[in-house]
Amino acid sequence: MTEHTQPERSLVLVKPDGYQRGLTGEVLRRIEAKGYTLVALAVTDARPDQLADHYAEHEGKPFYEPLVEFMSSGRLAAAVIEGHGCIPGFRALAGATDPTAALPGTIRGDLGRDWGGSVQQNIVHGSDSTESAAREIDIWFPDLG
Ligand code: RTP
Ligand code: MG
Repeated sequence: MTEHTQPERSLVLVKPDGYQRGLTGEVLRRIEAKGYTLVALAVTDARPDQLADHYAEHEGKPFYEPLVEFMSSGRLAAAVIEGHGCIPGFRALAGATDPTAALPGTIRGDLGRDWGGSVQQNIVHGSDSTESAAREIDIWFPDLG
């Protein structure tokens, strides 16, 4: 017997470096080519309270202030994607956090590099668990049912 489970959702951000470099379409293309569905999309300037909530787990770390500054440096694109396994699936598409180490074939490996700043600029964010996804979707798309 085949069991049918609910498709999960993940929150993806094209960070200000990716947006500014015109890579939003390329990131969305890879998400759609993988077979995941876009259920919400927005281009926005992140509010300070959104970034404080989104990165609460990193508060107090050495890269926290540079990270918030980087994420406030320009517009970003936010998306909710849907599909079975899309949380780990998008993390696999994104590649390792460090764009220098990220493997070719991944978003960060193909499109990112070290620019010498005090925080890693790595094109995208993706939720890392179902709990994070629910919390993050509520931060960026509070009206999404
Ligand atoms: P993300 O949350 O953006 O999807 O990335 P991640 O899970 O791979 O990485 P995480 O550990 O959650 O870190 C959040 C973001 O902070 C920046 N970072 N810079 N040592 C550094 O310079 C450093 N460490 C972290 C990156 O932008 C990372 O994606
Ligand atoms: Mg993370």
